[in-house]
Amino acid sequence: MNESSHTETPYTALGFYHKISQLRADTWNALKRDLGQLVRLNDESRARNLIKAIDVKLTRLEIIEDYHAFPSKEDFRHLWALFDREEYVLLEKVVKRLVRALISESYRRRHVDLSETDADAEDLETLDALAQLRHGHPASNSSAQPYFELLIVDNLSSQEEEVVREAFHSLRRPEDRFVYDVVTVRSFEDALIAVLVNPNIQACLIRYEFPYKSKYNLSALRNYLEGLSEQELEHQSEAERSILLSSMIHELRPEIDQFLVTSGDVEATASRDIRHFNRIFYRETDYIEQHHTILRAIDSRYRTPFFDALREYSKKPTGVFHAMPISRGKSVTRSHWAGHMIDFYGINIFLAETSATSGGLDSLLQPYGPIKKAQEYAARAFGARQSFFVTNGTSTANKIVVQALVKPRDIVLIDRDCHKSHHYGMVLAGAHVSYLDSYPLNDYSMYGAVPLREIKKTLLEYKRAGQLHRVKMLLLTNCTFDGVVYNVRRVMEECLAIKPDLVFLWDEAWFAFATFNPTYRPRTAMHAARTLRDRYRSEAYREEYAAWKAEFDALDPDDDATWLERRLLPDPEAVRIRAYATHSTHKTLTSLRQGSMIHVWDQDFRQKVEAPFHEAYMTHTSTSPNYQIVASLDVGRMQAEMEGFELVHAQVEAALSLREQLYTHPLLQKYFRVLKNSDMVPAEYRESGVESYYDPVTGWNQMEEAWARDEFVVDPTRVTIAIGNTGVDGDAFKNEYLMNKYGIQINKTSRNTVLFMTNIGTTRGSIAYLLDVLIKLAKEFEYRWEESSRPERKIIERRVHSLTRELPPLPDFSRFHDAFRQCSETPEGDIRRAYFLSYDEENTEYLRFDNGELQAEMRAGRDVVSASFVIPYPPGFPVLVPGQVVSEEILHFLQALDVKEIHGYRPELGLIVFTEEALAAPPET
Ligand SMILES: Cc1ncc(COP(=O)(O)O)c(C=O)c1O
Repeated sequence: MNESSHTETPYTALGFYHKISQLRADTWNALKRDLGQLVRLNDESRARNLIKAIDVKLTRLEIIEDYHAFPSKEDFRHLWALFDREEYVLLEKVVKRLVRALISESYRRRHVDLSETDADAEDLETLDALAQLRHGHPASNSSAQPYFELLIVDNLSSQEEEVVREAFHSLRRPEDRFVYDVVTVRSFEDALIAVLVNPNIQACLIRYEFPYKSKYNLSALRNYLEGLSEQELEHQSEAERSILLSSMIHELRPEIDQFLVTSGDVEATASRDIRHFNRIFYRETDYIEQHHTILRAIDSRYRTPFFDALREYSKKPTGVFHAMPISRGKSVTRSHWAGHMIDFYGINIFLAETSATSGGLDSLLQPYGPIKKAQEYAARAFGARQSFFVTNGTSTANKIVVQALVKPRDIVLIDRDCHKSHHYGMVLAGAHVSYLDSYPLNDYSMYGAVPLREIKKTLLEYKRAGQLHRVKMLLLTNCTFDGVVYNVRRVMEECLAIKPDLVFLWDEAWFAFATFNPTYRPRTAMHAARTLRDRYRSEAYREEYAAWKAEFDALDPDDDATWLERRLLPDPEAVRIRAYATHSTHKTLTSLRQGSMIHVWDQDFRQKVEAPFHEAYMTHTSTSPNYQIVASLDVGRMQAEMEGFELVHAQVEAALSLREQLYTHPLLQKYFRVLKNSDMVPAEYRESGVESYYDPVTGWNQMEEAWARDEFVVDPTRVTIAIGNTGVDGDAFKNEYLMNKYGIQINKTSRNTVLFMTNIGTTRGSIAYLLDVLIKLAKEFEYRWEESSRPERKIIERRVHSLTRELPPLPDFSRFHDAFRQCSETPEGDIRRAYFLSYDEENTEYLRFDNGELQAEMRAGRDVVSASFVIPYPPGFPVLVPGQVVSEEILHFLQALDVKEIHGYRPELGLIVFTEEALAAPPET
């Protein structure tokens, strides 16, 4: 596949694989059940049916297990032999043991020999399996070497495969940091399937000649391989095919360490694009060399430089003669009153608390040692050029990036319903703000995201007004709180065609996990930045651009349609890729609260940004950053690099099973309607036409198509449920029903929706609990209706009507008042001047709108201008910002709102607005 010849990646048809681990576990359990029934059965015809069912399941499992090291191919031969010999009692016993080993994951810690009936080993597995079920981890896990699987791609016979496997096994030493087993696949297709379905694979050894096609009929994979001509592949040289395979594995799972073993021409291989291989081995290189290289590569991901340094430090005896009495627990261990703090937290956290930056530690403000290393590893993990840890959340990360890049009077285009840290960031930086409206979802009182057309239109306005040079940054939220995801690459590409040096800040507060899944990753800022840079450097793109430009130049540049109705391409000579992303690592990956990261992919960073970035970082960072947060970011990064793929995969699986139940359960459907892709993304932004990722007949198979093509998609792990039919509003449902009755926490509601977010910690058990609760609640609503009198039913109906029909349209951003604008042709406003103008009391007054006072002023022709942010919760975005003119729509919206919490509004006083005199005063220069 030639990346540079198309903008979209051919979509990865992962639908089939989404639920493969559940399918695997469920099929093994079903097989165990069938065997259990069979051995206790006397009825011959039922026995025949069961035997047939067992045969089918074993066949299916054999395919799945072909991509896993345990159970091995030899184990499977043993199972088939027992089946063929009709030794069902023994087969049941072996399958039971195998299922226990899979549940307890005991195969990661010791060799499980299924051909032996070892009572001790069985006991251990039983204990482990029970502990796993009860506590979520096996009983004997503490000092185990981490386990992974090595994928070998080579067209080996079964005997050769055993020889290779044995050769690697024989190299194991007790002092090795890790232990691994070998999975062998024999074709190009099988290698791709293996890395998709087997998260244990951490390293891949691509060996000699292997065919393209799998022996299985894998229609689900074909789409992914779309564009690859089989004939071409069959005629490729060994090296070409290996290199192509490595780049495809890298697209799916970039963290996997890949090695090439070649018998071909050394120089010819070395001169090709071999960047995805850690190392190339030549035929004569021995297994020992390969073994050590593989272990070293895994170790470089597994290392946690700062966490390790902090643990080392905590063991050293030190005398504390500086601040922090809590350091080493000194102020609490001997306390008569505060000792229970140690009881609760344990001593380690205090041993790790220090204000020292030497003695093996490091300074976050000027890192040179383990924090520097930890940040470099984070950059590797997230595909950034530089990464920076932030210990005060993305609220601070956002302000750092804006201050580093934006000077007073620079123009920033920004989605108006962004997080409040951005609005405050604009005030601090003195940016002139041009707000962009997201498409509204009036039926659910929430916003979607900003259409590309709207962004292009705004940029065009600046171009026509001769102000484009002042536009510095486009700032968007990806994904939104509700899970609407942009087509990041497309947005950047088209904006860069209008302004080739535009800086992008993507607020990915909710999207750190996306890097670790191949369907999500292309919609992250870092991935898009790197892909676009590669694309613009290629000869193929230059040709594409030249052809496009010739066509474009023949059109009328003054006609909006020329720019808005077609896809724009940037000039490869002029374009600079400048992208920033901020992550609340703590929201979606492992990190203590407030642990965030800034990721940078900016070609001009070193030259233009490094110094101001440093100053901005200093402005906002405490000189006493919390080491525990830094250490947790380090561990969170490591975990994501080692098992992010598996965890995110499981998260998606859990969310899909929750959605599936909600789509199909008749009682749940009556009260709770899950919002589908088409409910949250209007048809005009769904090129693929995909309405829902799920179809009861074909299952989950349309997600990747939508994600590859559409302007917007919905992240299925964020499940928004419309609850209007319950007659209970979002806020009451959250507090009175979910929290108080069942201890279920959520934090986002709209008037008639609630948002359930899954995360990498969500288990099948927690999904089952949630479903159970929702079913109980649906029954409650059912009884309430059945037992209500007629007048009571009328009340319920009225509430349902109000929640489903009477929804005030969400207002657009009106405009900044002229007192805060410099250019009448373009919309930006000086929010900082407006913000500080309100500090002098004489510049403001209060106007009430509940008694018609404010409306009377508006009718008399006055521009009523807000002097503060006005933010109702929900929906949580500012309906007014300082300097913004109050419009009829905004007033209607505020009047129709039935929420209790509106920040910046005091009902007894009204809205705080600027006096007419303050607005008439000339701006200070
Ligand atoms: C889009 C967005 N950006 C930034 C933030 C702030 O993140 P943090 O809580 O890490 O400061 C939030 C918080 O909810 C958010 O939703």
